[in-house]
Amino acid sequence: TIGEVAQERKYRAFAVGGFVRDLLLQEKNFDIDVVIEGDGMVFAKALAERLKGRVRVHKKFKTAVVKLPDGLKVDVATARLEYYDYPAAMPTVELSSLKLDLYRRDFTINAMAIHLNPDTFGTLVDFFNSQNDLKDHKIRVLHNLSFVEDPTRIFRAIRFEQRMGFTIGQHTERLIKNAVRMNLFDRFFGYRFFGELKGILSEENPLPAIRRMADLHLLPFLHPRLKLEPRLTKNLEESQAALAWYQLLYRDEPCRNWLVYLLALTVNLKRSELQDFCQRFEVPERNRQQLLGEKTAAQQAATVLRRALPDSNSGIYHLLAGLGPEGLLYLLAISRKKAAKKAISLYVTELSQVRPELNGHDLKVLGYQPGPIFRQILDQLLDARLDGQVRNREEELVFVR
Ligand code: CTP
Repeated sequence: TIGEVAQERKYRAFAVGGFVRDLLLQEKNFDIDVVIEGDGMVFAKALAERLKGRVRVHKKFKTAVVKLPDGLKVDVATARLEYYDYPAAMPTVELSSLKLDLYRRDFTINAMAIHLNPDTFGTLVDFFNSQNDLKDHKIRVLHNLSFVEDPTRIFRAIRFEQRMGFTIGQHTERLIKNAVRMNLFDRFFGYRFFGELKGILSEENPLPAIRRMADLHLLPFLHPRLKLEPRLTKNLEESQAALAWYQLLYRDEPCRNWLVYLLALTVNLKRSELQDFCQRFEVPERNRQQLLGEKTAAQQAATVLRRALPDSNSGIYHLLAGLGPEGLLYLLAISRKKAAKKAISLYVTELSQVRPELNGHDLKVLGYQPGPIFRQILDQLLDARLDGQVRNREEELVFVR
């Protein structure tokens, strides 16, 4: 359909970027990046109309996103044709504007295109020997200024390297080291960078990528005090074990892996330093609250656990009830005492699920007047249940009376 909609307007449409890469690697990828030679905005609107999707246009960048009803996302960019005065039908002209678009991209493996117009549908365009790099499992930039133009690409290189089991090419690695030495990052912070970091920490196993970041001297850039010392490595490994364990519990409450790893990575930072981090990287407000909220709650619980373990289940419950799954798994990962670990895992597997069977309605039937007393009774009931003083509805009724 994309090709047809383009053809009707005498545009040419190409699938590009990660979509083509993953297609050749036979990996799933549900987002299509499309480059239009023609007016990408006009095309995006027409495509949305045809497929009953929604379109969001960024005029400034000449890009648009079309969201289709089945969840598929099409990113549309415009390749500039205006530099070329030749008749638009000439294939060499069309290719050269596409070439320019591809040349501006991050890595050779992301710089291939596939024709989508019906007459040439499926033809692969490979200007930069990308197929070879894909075959050799190499990540290479397209030109020497790539990291200067966009330092977030350094983190993308590491993410791709680890995710796909590729290696960064020698020359490309040298360019990364140069960029780090030049302190390119000093003038480059912000949200896009945080997005890439989140990407790395959301990968199946981010530990090798973190190690690679340390080897390339990138951690101090996150925060000057970040160093991958053995205790921190241990925390990250324990985080991974905790996440794997949590996954086996098949809980409905989802757990954001990146948050657990980021908490573990920044364990030695004070709250104020973490706040600085959030500011520098323009961490979105929601993520900022999650990060700082879980850190504070977990740190408080850790202090208590280090001193003395609660001597009852209800004590454990109240100590940990303020934490989300990420804070809990982080706490599990940084706790070294066996008894503390046991208490936390007991909370996660059992205590957090405990509820009294009686509810407000039952209390009303029992003759209580609705009000704050309800909360008090239900709280006492919960504690009694946690500590095994009551085990079922009948015993709860006796307890309340
Ligand atoms: N791109 C780039 N420089 C960046 C980010 C992106 O050149 N800093 C280009 C790449 O060609 C990339 C495309 O934009 O293929 C789309 O970016 P994105 O969706 O972030 O990445 P994908 O390659 O699709 O990878 P992923 O599977 O992780 O989404």
